[in-house]
Amino acid sequence: MATFQTLPGFREFYPDDLARRKHIFDLWRRTAHHFGFVEYDAPVLEPLELYKAKSGDEIEAQLFSFTDKGGREVALRPEMTPTVCRLVGARINALKRPVKWFSIAEFYRYERMQKGRGRCFFQLNADIFGEPGPEAEIELVALLIQCLASFGLTEQDFYIRLSDRNLWFYYLEALGLDEARIRGVLGAVDRYEKYGDEAFKAYTEQFGELDASLKAKVLAFLEIKSIEALEATLAAVGHAKLGARLADWRKLLGGLDAMGLTKFIAVDLGVVRGLAYYTGFVFEAFDRKGELRALAGGGRYDDLVEKLGGPALPAVGFAIGDMTFALLLEQRGLMPNFIQAPDVYCVIGGEAARRAAFGDIHALRAAGRRVDYPLKEVAFGKQFKLAADSGAKLALIYGDDEVAQGKVKIRDLTDRTEHEVARGDVLAVVRDFFSAG
Ligand code: HAM
Repeated sequence: MATFQTLPGFREFYPDDLARRKHIFDLWRRTAHHFGFVEYDAPVLEPLELYKAKSGDEIEAQLFSFTDKGGREVALRPEMTPTVCRLVGARINALKRPVKWFSIAEFYRYERMQKGRGRCFFQLNADIFGEPGPEAEIELVALLIQCLASFGLTEQDFYIRLSDRNLWFYYLEALGLDEARIRGVLGAVDRYEKYGDEAFKAYTEQFGELDASLKAKVLAFLEIKSIEALEATLAAVGHAKLGARLADWRKLLGGLDAMGLTKFIAVDLGVVRGLAYYTGFVFEAFDRKGELRALAGGGRYDDLVEKLGGPALPAVGFAIGDMTFALLLEQRGLMPNFIQAPDVYCVIGGEAARRAAFGDIHALRAAGRRVDYPLKEVAFGKQFKLAADSGAKLALIYGDDEVAQGKVKIRDLTDRTEHEVARGDVLAVVRDFFSAG
């Protein structure tokens, strides 16, 4: 009965799952607002062309794409970055700079399924357009950290690996490689942690074996884990742009330090990011224990808006995925248990009682209370168990005798105390109960 199952890698959200997802989104959204970012949204289906030769081979191979009934080549979005470039590029003259935007949306990639990776997943994307300097990176790395820390995660749980594709370019250029070879080496560096020497296979196939002394230098460079080691290695390299670039590094690290965030940061030249469009600083967030796939990734992409037909516009941003992140929260016991209980449960007698109760139920709901009751008549005695099981704090008891006397019983389901009130006072009594406690 395959038609009655979800497609591999796709997820269904039962109410408890959705409560957890909503918790994550709510806190991400609130945090992005605190940093002055505003929210946007965009279509889930896009022209295939938007991703061709822009996102990179890996994402291109993972596209869910098809021809629509109008003969258009289309794809489910695998990421937000090209889309947000189009949105911002099209209205840049009307937008106040810097543009600080975020979105929470679903994405689709035909990936090999594994822990923390599916074929549909959500991301928080946050991006800044119009700021060429490392001030934008300070803002975004700080936002990324706070989006994780606001759930109670600390520097013992996660950290940000910070690297720089510019430095890689300058270094490899100084070592005599041309742009195509530099891109080839960066592709190998991106895969090196996972595949070791195998990572150079594609480079070797395209350009022949990388010279042994060059390779040794590449492997030493990707091991760099501090700004001091970086400066020492680069001191011997002659490249006109290096001095200014190291000044950008100091500004970025200094800004994060002033925010008290150094404890979350690891300089790590081993990160170069697989996506094709990054042009400068790049960063990824990982769990400290190194058990999970990346939590988040991002970086600068100063050419992409223009490549997509917009104006020249510097840009930098990141995305956090929901799947690895939820796993980490669960592992650390930081995912709350969500109890979806009504505030009030009504226990109702016969027909006349039901009519009386309905008036109050609707009025209470309209006043903003969560109220539930048995949809159909159920034996009066049984309803007390339903009320207790519902998780409600208060039961309103519309027994036939009470209703005949114009009264309702109110039972506090926590301490099991009970008292009678006049029907006309129910709304006020319930309101006072919840505002007091
Ligand atoms: P990305 O590294 O491809 O970057 O994805 C960012 C995060 O999305 C990953 O770290 C991971 O948590 C999550 N993610 C990616 N693929 C999957 C998957 N198949 N299953 C579950 N989670 C996944 C980007 O997407 C860039 N567009 C980010 C960006 C925004 N760069 C600049 N602005």
